[in-house]
Amino acid sequence: MKNLTVVDHPLVQHKLTLMRHKETSTGSFRRLLREISLLLCYEVTRDLKLTTKEIETPLCTMQAPVIAGKKLVFASILRAGNGLLEGMLDLVPSARVAHVGLYRDHETLEAIEYYFKAPDDLDDRLVIVVDPMLATANSATAAIEKLKERGATNIRFLCLLAAPEGIEAFQKAQPDVPIFTAALDSHLNEKGYIVPGLGDAGDRMYGTK
Ligand code: PRP
Ligand code: URA
Repeated sequence: MKNLTVVDHPLVQHKLTLMRHKETSTGSFRRLLREISLLLCYEVTRDLKLTTKEIETPLCTMQAPVIAGKKLVFASILRAGNGLLEGMLDLVPSARVAHVGLYRDHETLEAIEYYFKAPDDLDDRLVIVVDPMLATANSATAAIEKLKERGATNIRFLCLLAAPEGIEAFQKAQPDVPIFTAALDSHLNEKGYIVPGLGDAGDRMYGTK
């Protein structure tokens, strides 16, 4: 599918299986999410442009590769996005961070916004939006619309699990935004949960249910 990358690295797939398991503890779930986020971050940044700068090694000077352009922005959709954010910041500590507070209304499945804070100069930075779950895509779409209103033009979306219904809705609403996911699951159930899925990502991360 165009604009969709499924990260099928064996380590990602193995860790994801452990996360899906209903017996996995809150602590293990958080640790696994942080570990997976390092591997997903590696994939979502794989094609970043490089430039060179002159450095001195102990032996000589050389033109050495460094990432070109302005610092990245990671935009976390609260709460569960923070589970991916932490590991990504381990890998790219200089990244700027945006927080988009959204929760799903359990009846309508609409995304309700309760918080937004982002760096001012989104227009000339790559913005990587992170949220473990793409179900109906209402949350991802709402977050990306808000980021676009604030000037973002170069956006990628990174998640752990996606439902086919969410991919279709997302690509209709945000055709210019590539999706990176660790798995494409079967379908959404009547309550809007991803099947087979892993349950409620936020609750599993924070032990709130
Ligand atoms: C979960 C998840 C996504 C959203 C996905 O968040 O982290 O943000 O649901 O569903 P959608 O694609 O149908 O919008 P939730 O609303 O449960 O909030 P939380 O992260 O605070 O638990
Ligand atoms: N949000 C979750 O946390 N899990 C799902 O399966 C769907 C939306």
